Amino acid sequence: MSKKLLYNLLAAVMLASLVLTACGAPAATQPAPAEPAASAKKTYADMTLCYPQLGAESDWRTANTASFKQTAEELGAKLIFSDAQQKQENQISAMRACIQQGVDVIALPPVVEDGWDAVLTEAKNAGIPVIIVDRSVSADKSLYAAHIGSDMKLEGERSAEEFNKKFTDGAKILELSGTTGSGAAVGRAEGLRNKLNANIEIIDSQTGNFTRAEALPVMQAFLQKYKPGEDFQGIFIHNDDMGIGAIEALKAAGVKPGDLFIVSVDGTRGGFQAMVDGWFQADVECNPLLGPQVFEMALKLMNGEPIEAETLTNETVYYPDKAAELLPSRQY
Ligand code: AHR
Repeated sequence: MSKKLLYNLLAAVMLASLVLTACGAPAATQPAPAEPAASAKKTYADMTLCYPQLGAESDWRTANTASFKQTAEELGAKLIFSDAQQKQENQISAMRACIQQGVDVIALPPVVEDGWDAVLTEAKNAGIPVIIVDRSVSADKSLYAAHIGSDMKLEGERSAEEFNKKFTDGAKILELSGTTGSGAAVGRAEGLRNKLNANIEIIDSQTGNFTRAEALPVMQAFLQKYKPGEDFQGIFIHNDDMGIGAIEALKAAGVKPGDLFIVSVDGTRGGFQAMVDGWFQADVECNPLLGPQVFEMALKLMNGEPIEAETLTNETVYYPDKAAELLPSRQY
């Protein structure tokens, strides 16, 4: 090989290695990789929320359903809604269908407290968080993400305080209770008994299943058995719809507004009207407008953000003196 050829060859090798070095330039000179960040966060547009509503038994429930539908629409989230007609088996089937579809979150308003362990375990195994809404469940807390709703026991305690204030010398009262085994009925009954003065006796307690239609015959049967004013002086009614059913029976029996001291729960427009008309002497608030809180928590769960395990609604007691003034602005 001639010297000239050798030099040319060496020069070519050096040039090639320079080019290669330039291509594999150190990282410091390369542009930084784009941030993965913000776009990875889920929004309401990504959300499918399942709401197996327990029924349509009361004005409270109608307002609760409307709150979920309206919130989903406003936020642009997808809502899978069903009505279980107050039957637990229907709620469980609806939940199973939602698990099959792979929804992001299930919000469950349980008709009764017991019997949820199996389906909650199925949701957990499928990686779908469950928010218990409104009434409580007896299942282990590890099976669901959180509970958002009213403090039903406190509502019962507040009702007891109304009877205690009215009947300082004692009285006999009746109880028209909600759906047997439901967190709302169990809590309200327990709260009433916790706080009721010893000189006030609950002489009878029957369920009206939270509906007007079922409360009416229960009140009629009470009136066959007990004489208003003599055998009992007051009635604790677990919701306004049953109160309205009871009023029909009382009217038919000749009872006048104010003859009995009646405390109801919910604070619906119907309850406010019953206060305006003189039938209810207090209405303990139970707020159904839970949609916004539930969707907000569902989004946090989808993004792996921390949430509160228990959120109890801040509520009050309404009285006849402000009922007429507040009635027009009531949302439910
Ligand atoms: O669980 C809430 C209760 O259910 C409300 O008091 C009642 O009106 C409803 O049906």
